Amino acid sequence: MFNVETIRKDFPILKRQVNGKSLVYFDNAATSQTPQQVIDVIVDYYSNYNANIHRGVHTLSQEATDKYEQARLKIQKHFNAKASHEIIMTSGTTHGINLVASGFTALLEKGDEIIVSALEHHSNIVPWQMLCERTGAILKVIPMNDEGELVMSAYTDLLSDKTKLVFVNHISNALGTINPIEFIIQKAHAVGAAVLIDGAQACPHVKPDVQALDVDFYVASAHKMCGPTGVGMLYGKEEWLNKLPPYQGGGEMIAEVTFENTTYADLPHKFEAGTPNICGGIAFGAAIDYMNTIGFDKIAAYEHELLDYATAELLKIEGLKIYGTAKEKTSVISFNLEGIHPYDVGTLLDKMGIAVRTGHHCAQPIMNYFKIPGTIRASFAFYNTKEEIDALVSATKKAQLMLS
Ligand code: ALA
Repeated sequence: MFNVETIRKDFPILKRQVNGKSLVYFDNAATSQTPQQVIDVIVDYYSNYNANIHRGVHTLSQEATDKYEQARLKIQKHFNAKASHEIIMTSGTTHGINLVASGFTALLEKGDEIIVSALEHHSNIVPWQMLCERTGAILKVIPMNDEGELVMSAYTDLLSDKTKLVFVNHISNALGTINPIEFIIQKAHAVGAAVLIDGAQACPHVKPDVQALDVDFYVASAHKMCGPTGVGMLYGKEEWLNKLPPYQGGGEMIAEVTFENTTYADLPHKFEAGTPNICGGIAFGAAIDYMNTIGFDKIAAYEHELLDYATAELLKIEGLKIYGTAKEKTSVISFNLEGIHPYDVGTLLDKMGIAVRTGHHCAQPIMNYFKIPGTIRASFAFYNTKEEIDALVSATKKAQLMLS
């Protein structure tokens, strides 16, 4: 049974007051909140077995290594990767994308084409532009429509034997659109191109199966799915990870070092130079356990209920426009009030205890498409309630009155 009141008890922060009001946390697309079960794992690590991993003969180091590698196995199982060495621990989605973009420097030639979508976060645009600067490859863009959906006929027109790589997000952080990634992957593979999926916004809502998707690279961040910041994962098919050169040089990623020559470690360590976020990695595993205990089917169904309810209630406000009305959408609502700057609304909502994000959401091309400076974005998680949505609607009406 999904019982939101029981679930809310797991999140100590939800008891907080902000500006004298009960916190309503609707900035989940920026970062999710952390349940006590994950906080306990972090406290346990620093209280009982904080040590560097893969290096020490001593007990603490071995305990930390075991827990860290167990977390990698949890991540492997969660994403259904074939092997645990196909999971590279990163500092987050941005790190994973940069690692792949850097690796493709050696694999692209001038005139090769790579394809991005109009719906991307800057972190899935800029590293590829930098790759184009380094290699002379050409960046093509899948356009979007007024609903905030990618135009698939335009995508298939862009594909050719020059296409080497396609990178799109699974779910848009700014609009909530769920992209047809199965179709995107299948069409890219038909012309021999590899595909990277940015799963940062998808992983809090769905459980991706990288083998069923047949995706080449999939990236995610722990902090969007009840884990800590500063840790994430890159899944890569073994054959691709073997083709890419190391991203950073340092300890841990080597087999042997002399001044004449260095050889590199096998996967996954080849891509894991330096001391990683050990505690973060272990807590990432705990966050995955936590979310799976609730169940992604239940999470998705409940969040969809919240999305439908909030959409209907917000649309009752005169002058309110929602950006992103895709048929396939997750629990993100980007909106504006006619004639009012989103920042002003966000500031007033905060005064009433409601946390939303305002601005361009690191997705300026989307804002340019709609010819707006930004939006107010309310993003819901499985621990939010309809009562909190009522509070948002009433606070938005108040803000509108005050700012008109
Ligand atoms: N990418 C995060 C967001 O959408 C920070 O808010």
